[in-house]
Amino acid sequence: MHILTFQNALDIAEHFEGLGKVVQVDERTFPDGEVLVRVPEAGPVVVLIARLYPGVNDSVFKLFLALDALNDMGVGRIVVVAPYLPYARQDRRFRPGEPISAKALLKTLANLSVGALVAVDLHKPYIADYVPRVAVRNVYPAEEFAERLKGIDAVVSPDFGSLHRAEAVARILGVPYTYFEKYRDRETGAITLMPRRDLELRGARVAIVDDILSTGGTLVDACKAARTLGASEVYAAVTHCQLLKDAREKVKSCVDRLVCTDTILNEFAEVKVGPLLRREVEKLL
Ligand code: R5P
Repeated sequence: MHILTFQNALDIAEHFEGLGKVVQVDERTFPDGEVLVRVPEAGPVVVLIARLYPGVNDSVFKLFLALDALNDMGVGRIVVVAPYLPYARQDRRFRPGEPISAKALLKTLANLSVGALVAVDLHKPYIADYVPRVAVRNVYPAEEFAERLKGIDAVVSPDFGSLHRAEAVARILGVPYTYFEKYRDRETGAITLMPRRDLELRGARVAIVDDILSTGGTLVDACKAARTLGASEVYAAVTHCQLLKDAREKVKSCVDRLVCTDTILNEFAEVKVGPLLRREVEKLL
């Protein structure tokens, strides 16, 4: 078996050593922006590891090209490992005429003979069922987050969409969990975040759990709401930390401790997903 990896995923591929021969994909970018890849060698079974962020569009297109090459080389079984699956926030058609980008991406992988995809914390778990031809394994590092959040009194999701994450972490820690609901004051237009269930946060050490930290707005709003409700400390566990614009400063202004995974590399990426991804791939093979 071959463990084929793009350069930006070499650190993840290290965790796959012993499972197959680790081979790096050659990558080039031409002056006009076009990309080219070359697969030096491949056997009948290939696990292809690709970080699809940053440089989303180039990374996705390089993945497509590598997959096409693998098809031409006659590879029989292809498993893609994409720690962060981009385009997943467009998981629905929000306006007529829009695509469901997450489905389009999976369909393309299916058309390129990908049999399985292993990813970390899909934006919405139901994305995994969009294209049945690709067996999608959605890995959530609940244990790893919980280990780093010991001593927490409650876990809060910034919205309903992340409640399953808060639940997974809270169950391991044996603490209550809830999510914030937005209330708009009809007169002033001011927005207040309130815990959905009647959960007392006064004096509590609270952990906010979410999948993506992009500009930091969602996390910081949730953090401020927790503080307004009396939280004594606020931690955050976010899977994919993009930390765009002034997100670092925003987070620092409210959050006591931020824990991210290394699906996207940054200074808060304490949780290494390589071992989890390997375990999932081993189950598939
Ligand atoms: C939203 O559905 C996601 O789960 C995140 O809460 C959101 O993408 C975070 O974005 P930002 O950091 O820009 O608020």
